Amino acid sequence: MKRVFSGIKPTGHLTLGNYLGAMRRWSAVDQHEADALFCVVDLHALTVDHDPGRVRRLSRQAATLLLAAGLDPELCTVFVQSHVDEHARLSYLLECVATDGETRRMIQYREKAAAERVRGGSVRLSLLTYPVLMAADILAYGTDEVPVGEDQAQHVELTRDLAVRFNQRYGRTFVVPRTTHPGVAARVMNLQDPTSKMGKSDDVGPGIVYLLDEPEVVRKKIMRAVTDSGRDVVYDPEGRPGVSNLLEILAGCAGGDPAELAGAYATYGSLKKDTAEAVVELLGPVQRRHKELCADSAYVEGVLREGAGKAREMARPTVDAAYRAIGLLPPG
Ligand code: AMP
Ligand code: TRP
Repeated sequence: MKRVFSGIKPTGHLTLGNYLGAMRRWSAVDQHEADALFCVVDLHALTVDHDPGRVRRLSRQAATLLLAAGLDPELCTVFVQSHVDEHARLSYLLECVATDGETRRMIQYREKAAAERVRGGSVRLSLLTYPVLMAADILAYGTDEVPVGEDQAQHVELTRDLAVRFNQRYGRTFVVPRTTHPGVAARVMNLQDPTSKMGKSDDVGPGIVYLLDEPEVVRKKIMRAVTDSGRDVVYDPEGRPGVSNLLEILAGCAGGDPAELAGAYATYGSLKKDTAEAVVELLGPVQRRHKELCADSAYVEGVLREGAGKAREMARPTVDAAYRAIGLLPPG
């Protein structure tokens, strides 16, 4: 059975982008078809300015939402990255295989580092090494497939390069993974600025739909989404990013093909209305289940404890093999 691994950072409240771009497929497809692990990657949340209490709260919330979205601990492994030492252990070895040039080229690093400098802040070294830790997350488990949104494609490419290079230099140790993206809504855009990604770390904003937004809030955000200057409804992500984003969201929630759906709408108003209702309908069951799970935190903690135990067992042999292959003396 193929091995699937993916992760989500507790850097903000989870969004519709996270759900459509990644989580939905994890629960609808991956956990049924693969030996799958899903991880709240909390170490990654420390790469930018952070508040310890907030990271802790968001980690718990992200894990609860993963279960609310349908991940079933009977079918897959759900855990928190920092509970399994193998990630950090392997990351250091991969830092000895990666070059600083290749991590500096990462788009996410360049964007985040530039934004940090504009604010007058300093850039944490971990922001630069972040994709190497992500590679360790993936390679530690012999992962075949990494289901993610489009923004992560470059990081998975780097992961592949590191796996191939390590295997060539030190002997075959890692499986070389591939990325999978959803057919639609692989990059959900900000409703107020449809040329940039709907990102949870951007925090406040009428352009971001959060999974825990009340139905009225969801409706308001979608009805106020920025549309384009034309009047007709056409699917053209380059020329008409606002309307195309709504069509992607509608297709992501209710099924169908964005270009075909466009033909069914004469006005932006009716498209927005249907999109808002489709999102509300999609989020309802997730929100209800989330509320139930919040009342049973012992259950969630138990799932995470057991998940970490299983993950540790899976990762250890590969990471130990990498330590030996690279030339480190095994303990007696
Ligand atoms: P992150 O929030 O960066 O930890 O991302 C977790 C997962 O959600 C990754 O697979 C991302 O690619 C995916 N994701 C995040 N934002 C979006 C978005 N706006 N559209 C599609 N996928 C997204
Ligand atoms: N970097 C990913 C993101 O920002 C999160 C992540 C960390 C991840 N480790 C991973 C995703 C391993 C897939 C596999 O979304």
